[in-house]
Amino acid sequence: MNFLVTGGAGFIGSHSVEALLADGAQVRVLDNFTSGKRANLAAHANLQIVDGDIRDAEAVDHAMVGITHVLHLAAQVSVPASVADPVGSSQHNLRGFLNVLDAARRAGVKRFVYASSAAVYGAPERLPLDESSPVAPLSPYGLEKSINDQYAALYRQLYQLSSLGLRYFNVYGPRQDPASPYAGVISRFSSAMTRGDTLRVFGDGEQTRDFIFVKDVAQLNKRALMSDADGVCNIATGHSVTLLELIDTLAQCAGCTPQIRHEPPAPGDIRHSGATPRKMFEQLNPPPMTKLADGLKQLLEASA
Ligand SMILES: NC(=O)c1ccc[n+]([C@@H]2O[C@H](COP(=O)([O-])OP(=O)(O)OC[C@H]3O[C@@H](n4cnc5c(N)ncnc54)[C@H](O)[C@@H]3O)[C@@H](O)[C@H]2O)c1
Repeated sequence: MNFLVTGGAGFIGSHSVEALLADGAQVRVLDNFTSGKRANLAAHANLQIVDGDIRDAEAVDHAMVGITHVLHLAAQVSVPASVADPVGSSQHNLRGFLNVLDAARRAGVKRFVYASSAAVYGAPERLPLDESSPVAPLSPYGLEKSINDQYAALYRQLYQLSSLGLRYFNVYGPRQDPASPYAGVISRFSSAMTRGDTLRVFGDGEQTRDFIFVKDVAQLNKRALMSDADGVCNIATGHSVTLLELIDTLAQCAGCTPQIRHEPPAPGDIRHSGATPRKMFEQLNPPPMTKLADGLKQLLEASA
């Protein structure tokens, strides 16, 4: 099996590449290194790194030669950037996505797994979210991910391309960009805590999120590539915590007592989020999920 991981130098990508290499796979990474870093990928005999852009169809075709399985993670990942520049964002997340999907079809790859997002659900009216919950994106980014889901479904129907879209909730762990809208809050809180700075909490801190550890996500990506599950699949733990509970757990792990300052709620902030990962548990056979405290300890150790 030969794997292509687009965005393989990024946060989720680099952990996924490590998990694939650990199984003895041949892996090719296609990344333009905008947010990804070379330092995220240790040199390995089975790893080939291609500096290229998914907006460039020729570069994508070239990277697809000899590939049997695709993990497509490269994207413009910022929700605010998609609001500020919807056309620019669509070049990566629609045109770039289609370049990779269609190159995979023409190359006859066996399996196409890609990053969708919990952002497709917008501000949910009913929790927990399952894959049949209404799709109501609130940003160009969420809309682009939802269109990715529709393209993948159409390609399954028209060309029998086997695919699965992974709707990641809030992935956290080592190498995360503190600016990430998903769980960047964890990186920001942990570095503020270790510096002894006051933590800024927008709103009352009772907003809830489902945080999933990046190494668990890497294992799930691998299992998704090996499975024949189709459609879309929530990737979450099934247990949401409030921001204040998160701070409490982080403080216990770091062994400190943080100072908290509440600020006005961030505009457009979704109050509650939570998922039912039933399909994930039934069809992807995940390993035991890392407990929040254990994942936070690993994050603190990695940034020490
Ligand atoms: N982190 C989360 O919690 C989360 C949640 C939902 C969805 N996602 C999705 O998961 C995927 C990975 O996200 P991440 O958190 O690892 O972000 P990341 O920014 O660390 O990774 C994205 C990678 O893609 C590369 N890239 C960006 N544009 C590219 C282009 N045009 N051509 C080639 N490479 C390009 C970047 O250099 C980077 O290495 C993205 O598709 C993102 O939308 C992430």
